[in-house]
Amino acid sequence: MHDTFTVKPWAGRFNAPTDAFVEAFTASVAFDQRLYRYDIQGSIAHATMLAQQGILTAAERDAIINGLQAVQAEIDAGTFNWLIELEDVHMNIETALTAKIGEAGKKLHTGRSRNDQVATDVRLWLRDEIDVIRLEIKRLQTALLDLAEREADTILPGFTHLQVAQPITFGHHLLAWFEMLDRDCERFTDCRRRLNVMPLGAAALAGTTYSIDRQYTAQLLGFDRPAENSLDAVSDRDFAIEFTAAAAILMMHLSRYSEELILWSSAQFNFIELSDSFCTGSSIMPQKKNPDVPELVRGKSGRIFGHLMGLLTLMKSQPLAYNKDNQEDKEPLFDTVDNLKGSLRVYADMMGNITCHHERMRTAAKQGFSTATDLADYLVRAGIAFRDAHEIVGKAVAFGVREKRDLAELTLAELQQFSAAIQANVFSVLTLEGSVAARDHFGGTAPNQVRAAIVRARARLNTTESN
Ligand code: ARG
Repeated sequence: MHDTFTVKPWAGRFNAPTDAFVEAFTASVAFDQRLYRYDIQGSIAHATMLAQQGILTAAERDAIINGLQAVQAEIDAGTFNWLIELEDVHMNIETALTAKIGEAGKKLHTGRSRNDQVATDVRLWLRDEIDVIRLEIKRLQTALLDLAEREADTILPGFTHLQVAQPITFGHHLLAWFEMLDRDCERFTDCRRRLNVMPLGAAALAGTTYSIDRQYTAQLLGFDRPAENSLDAVSDRDFAIEFTAAAAILMMHLSRYSEELILWSSAQFNFIELSDSFCTGSSIMPQKKNPDVPELVRGKSGRIFGHLMGLLTLMKSQPLAYNKDNQEDKEPLFDTVDNLKGSLRVYADMMGNITCHHERMRTAAKQGFSTATDLADYLVRAGIAFRDAHEIVGKAVAFGVREKRDLAELTLAELQQFSAAIQANVFSVLTLEGSVAARDHFGGTAPNQVRAAIVRARARLNTTESN
């Protein structure tokens, strides 16, 4: 139906049609059509500015805006005919506009290039996605705080080297996850601030000969300012790399939560149970209930780390200014956004559906001499130097290992073999409750500190400024 050679907006300089395979190979429309709303938003702002500057007439501007809105309605409705020979989202939309409104459509690209256009589209799109991602992070943080509140008194073993270390409260553990996400959210906020600078006006690379008003276009599009340098504006994708780095760090955090949830829901730990709706069975082993959701999120961290490396390598050694290499920024970015949002969403939903096996957690916390440090601190309070106290408790632990009894299960007389400073009141520090309650300072695991930390965390969540 179309003459695939003359239809191309840049065909004027060419004497032979594009090789059919090269046409398909170089086209990006299959994936960059996802940017269409932002492409149209950018074009409307550009046309508005051109009219303000007297470069387009008001009638031309109105025809362009109405035409672009009609194109958008067609794309929204799924009736738009994307043509691969028109290469990308930009030329598809511009060509459809001209087909609708005639001459005025051909004037839209005045003072503009696809190079500043695409850099603008990706920034506008990513800005919106960051706003959605920040909300998803906050939703997960809220779910963590709700669970932490419910489990503020729950005692489980804290680990170092995955060996039982000291008793902690589950609420405290969940607040550690909250803090990691808080920094993640800040990283996205910071990335958004740096990306919110407008490339339009840079045109192909050197700027344009028309008397454009870049401040005005930037204001129309909600950018903080126009980019200072036209070469930089069309070429660098550091904002995409920064975004993907923030995403990779967040996924690294989710992979750590995943690992813990997977361990805790195993028969060997049996600390928690994930709801059936977040697990799947085995096609061969009828007894299985597998923690697929955390496993899949842990796995997805890998592809996002890969996208970060891919984008860094894409940008590496590129000479100024725009190079077609940059077309390759989109698929990794889209995939990062989709998988990141999906992982955050499923995690927020899953957190409200965790059942804790309190008795199992307690039993595990009692094993492994987890209150040994409390005994050493007790001896220090009785006037013994910490290093000596450490030695005394080490010997008591060795005795307990031989006897197969925990410190709290030794008799007073047995404990006194190691130090005469040990009195009957020692048993209150050897209990799990005594141990966690004693860590009663800012940032500590005592239940009342956990509750205070939750109050502070909720207040921070509600101040959008710091996030
Ligand atoms: N599809 C291209 C991209 O995504 C648009 C810019 C093309 N510019 C060019 N001079 N070939 O980067």
